[in-house]
Amino acid sequence: MLLLAKLSTAIWMLGRTTRVILALQNVTIDDRFGDELTHIVPTFTPVDGWWLGGAGGTGGFAKPSASLAYNKTWLDSTHEVGEVERMINFGFTGVSLYVYFIIANSQDFSAFTDYKFLMDGELVGTYTHYVEKPSGYLYNTPVYVNRTLKNEFHNFSIVVDSTEQPVLLLFDYAIYTVTATNDLVNQPSSRFPTPIPPSDVGADVGRTLGAFTLGLFLGMLLLVVYRRQKTQGIAGGALLMYVKRRGDG
Ligand SMILES: *[C@@H]1O[C@H](CO)[C@@H](O)[C@H](O)[C@H]1NC(C)=O
Ligand SMILES: *[C@@H]1O[C@H](CO)[C@@H](O)[C@H](O)[C@H]1NC(C)=O
Ligand SMILES: *[C@@H]1O[C@H](CO)[C@@H](O)[C@H](O)[C@H]1NC(C)=O
Ligand SMILES: *[C@@H]1O[C@H](CO)[C@@H](O)[C@H](O)[C@H]1NC(C)=O
Repeated sequence: MLLLAKLSTAIWMLGRTTRVILALQNVTIDDRFGDELTHIVPTFTPVDGWWLGGAGGTGGFAKPSASLAYNKTWLDSTHEVGEVERMINFGFTGVSLYVYFIIANSQDFSAFTDYKFLMDGELVGTYTHYVEKPSGYLYNTPVYVNRTLKNEFHNFSIVVDSTEQPVLLLFDYAIYTVTATNDLVNQPSSRFPTPIPPSDVGADVGRTLGAFTLGLFLGMLLLVVYRRQKTQGIAGGALLMYVKRRGDG
């Protein structure tokens, strides 16, 4: 029984370690097609302040190449000083967030950028870009990255309220990272498991581990009984005879 106690402790410690090993998966939110898991599309306000670029949209003055934009689309807006603020808003549950814009370097239209980032109502960052030479477009530009988020729902906003010069927004997509348990990842059918709150993740791992431990425990118990029978031949023999007699009777 001492062996079994040691074994249980070892398994318990293994379980504690397994709990921390969580697989990470990225989920993309496109400007037009939205979140690939929930299909919720970000909110762009004011509603009459945005132009769809690519996918049949005319866009604004900026003409980036649709083939280089994620899902061949982007949303275009220019905020003029004094106008109502521009806002892009979306929610997600994850531990990291990456926000990608197309940046324009052009002398032909206002291409200056000055963005504010709000996470759950709190200002967490800014991004500024002054037009550079040569002119052209910079695709997949990460304007905001946060890799230290709590694994819970976050309400994220990009806000532009310029006071000095017009600001251009060419929003392309965002990526957030969800955590998934190992057994979910191993199933090829669930490429994009729904995000699981940490408590449930623990419970899930716990359940799997519980079944595993029970199986192992029973196996060890059988082995110990068998060994005992071999070493303590007399007692073992008596037990066998008892079982046999009961079977006969
Ligand atoms: C998610 O995407 C970011 C940005 O492309 C990348 O750095 C990170 O490694 C990706 N994470 C996973 C789990 O694929
Ligand atoms: C968006 O792009 C991704 C990655 O290329 C692709 O898997 C997905 O089908 C595209 N969605 C649409 C609606 O085009
Ligand atoms: C990430 O978001 C948290 C709030 O959830 C904030 O405290 C932290 O400063 C942010 N980090 C970055 C790099 O923006
Ligand atoms: C997220 O924040 C925006 C802007 O502050 C607000 O309008 C919206 O109601 C919030 N959404 C949620 C789900 O909390």
